[in-house]
Amino acid sequence: QQRQMTASEVRARKGGTPLVCLTAYTTPVARLVDAECDIVLVGDSVGMVLHGLPSTLGVTMEMMVLHGQAVARGLSRALMVIDMPFGSYEEGPEQAFRNAARLMAETGAGAVKLEGGIAMADTIRFLTARSIPVMAHVGLTPQAINTLGGYKVQGRGEDAHRVLADARAVADAGAFAVVLEKVPAALADRITAEVPVPTIGIGASAGCDGQVLVVDDMLGLFTDFKPKFVRRYAELGHAAGAAIAAYAEEVRARRFPGPGHVFGEAP
Ligand code: KIV
Ligand code: NA
Repeated sequence: QQRQMTASEVRARKGGTPLVCLTAYTTPVARLVDAECDIVLVGDSVGMVLHGLPSTLGVTMEMMVLHGQAVARGLSRALMVIDMPFGSYEEGPEQAFRNAARLMAETGAGAVKLEGGIAMADTIRFLTARSIPVMAHVGLTPQAINTLGGYKVQGRGEDAHRVLADARAVADAGAFAVVLEKVPAALADRITAEVPVPTIGIGASAGCDGQVLVVDDMLGLFTDFKPKFVRRYAELGHAAGAAIAAYAEEVRARRFPGPGHVFGEAP
């Protein structure tokens, strides 16, 4: 039985073989991704992907705890990182510590992730000084949709300085890795070169120190919309739709259940 990857092992992979990361929200999917991933993220994307919410803003601590517990049961080798939901950390370092400690204690996650750059540096410093490994997330931060004004590319032109400063600030504050979401590839490469911790790209660059995708996006299970940065490695949603249609047709035609699915008298 292999030991689980640690945040410091992830940190040490800077500049090495790219880190493989996917999300998971359930035990069976956690088992599948654990076989190939260095990091498994219990993302607050669970709200949109599994609960039908219009954004990640409605995700609660209770939802994260339940999905985190389910994912933990399916992992034996990947590092489990869990998202801090909107409203659970922004008030200040003490609130963030209380909720991060609860997520780790109740789920067994090895690290938390939170969104924000310079504005979250003090909080990241406070958590890491108190034994909570933090993955940061800069660029497009979906919990800030209402102030960003949409899911647009971040850091184009002069705005590159802001995203670079955010990435530097979270690394200085002790984050062991930083997610770069939806930033120009050249900026992602520059941040990867200048920041001493691994960058995990999503809609960023193949030059990042690792990549992450939402598992339901790459499997073709979440099809409400498809961001440009998603590659569908399978079309499981189509396969499921065809299977359900075949079942419905057989039920209506009384071809299901067949002789092998029903019971006779005592054998
Ligand atoms: O919630 C999530 O799934 C994420 C990743 C896409 C980085 O934050
Ligand atoms: Na997230």
